[in-house]
Amino acid sequence: MTIREILIHPDDHLREVAREVTFPLSDDVKQLIQDLADTMYDAPGVGLASTQIGVPLRVAVTDILWRSEEVRHNADEPGGLRDLKVWINPEFLWKSDEMVTWEEGCLSVPEYYADVARPAAVRLRWFDAEGTRHESDFEGFQAVALQHEFDHLDGKLFIDYLSMLRRNMITKKLKKLYKS
Ligand code: NI
Repeated sequence: MTIREILIHPDDHLREVAREVTFPLSDDVKQLIQDLADTMYDAPGVGLASTQIGVPLRVAVTDILWRSEEVRHNADEPGGLRDLKVWINPEFLWKSDEMVTWEEGCLSVPEYYADVARPAAVRLRWFDAEGTRHESDFEGFQAVALQHEFDHLDGKLFIDYLSMLRRNMITKKLKKLYKS
């Protein structure tokens, strides 16, 4: 099990636009997927994009069950729940005009949460680790989580949707807290 370091805003690597992955997956990319999952569960988080560990490839993992503290607490018990999803080269084919607002947070922007409005429903095309193409519609928390994760692959963070004043305040405080 390899826990990778999660980059914290304002790290320039978080602003990189990630490249598409080619199939069949190389051993490096297979390892990357495993590391992303291990790192997400360890954090703990409900999603992690490659960009967040400094690898600019279009790969992300999610487990929206991990929103629940009870699920996290019991994950390693018999009957513990996990629902790991791997998203490779994801692309939104459609987004609804209807918007929905959720309070978002991010492992790369620790300790800050803010309301962000995003399309309430999306249609997504993506590939799984075997290279099989999928297409499906998502709504609710899942739709929001996917938009948040795939923003990372384009070098975008949820704080980019906030006012410049609020964003600058968060950047300043994180710089002070995490400066290395
Ligand atoms: Ni994030």
